[in-house]
Amino acid sequence: MARSHDPPNYMGVFYSLAVLTGLEIGVTFLPIPTLLSRILLVGLAATKAALVALYFMHLKFERRTLTWIALTPGLICTFLVLMLLPDSVAITRRPGSFAAAQETLPPVELITGPGVDVVKRNCTRCHPVNIIAQTRKDRAGWLESIRWLQQEKGLRRFDQKTEETILDYLSTYYAPESSQ
Ligand code: HEC
Repeated sequence: MARSHDPPNYMGVFYSLAVLTGLEIGVTFLPIPTLLSRILLVGLAATKAALVALYFMHLKFERRTLTWIALTPGLICTFLVLMLLPDSVAITRRPGSFAAAQETLPPVELITGPGVDVVKRNCTRCHPVNIIAQTRKDRAGWLESIRWLQQEKGLRRFDQKTEETILDYLSTYYAPESSQ
């Protein structure tokens, strides 16, 4: 590497930055998974940032400890971004999903009445109450829903009293419009 009195090769660094930028553009056209291309892009960007810091900000010619003090946050930042990338991909991959739709719904309160606490306690672990509040069914319909949830969606079985309370509440306050 250059002795400390040689002028740094600014043009060389400039060309390296240009090549890295070209590579970044190339990466976006590669037929590879989004995650992989993002990781490559972050890696390339980090390399560029390091070059700029080392040469144009003269860190390369400062004391070694100073270099590490300046680069450590960058390394940690890159690490964190890479850690979080899989999550962000996972979330954006399912835009029309049930969970995504629920998240965009405004908060809703269930109608107050006997049994509302039992319903809240037993029915809000997996989804907000919106899905209940926007549904209208008679008692048989609600029972069918609950059986379906128990068979297909992992809803636990209730003892008789709890189930009656839930069905009474739902068939009273969330009955089909015509019977209200
Ligand atoms: C173990 C998690 C879980 C619990 C607890 C739960 N649900 Fe659900 N519920 C789901 C899932 C999963 C869906 C299905 C969403 C889909 O596939 O679209 C669903 C869908 C629904 C639907 C829409 C489908 C339909 O049958 O009309 C209603 C209404 C509903 N739940 C009511 C309730 C009620 C009432 C309770 C309490 C007795 C309850 N849920 C408790 C997981 C749960």
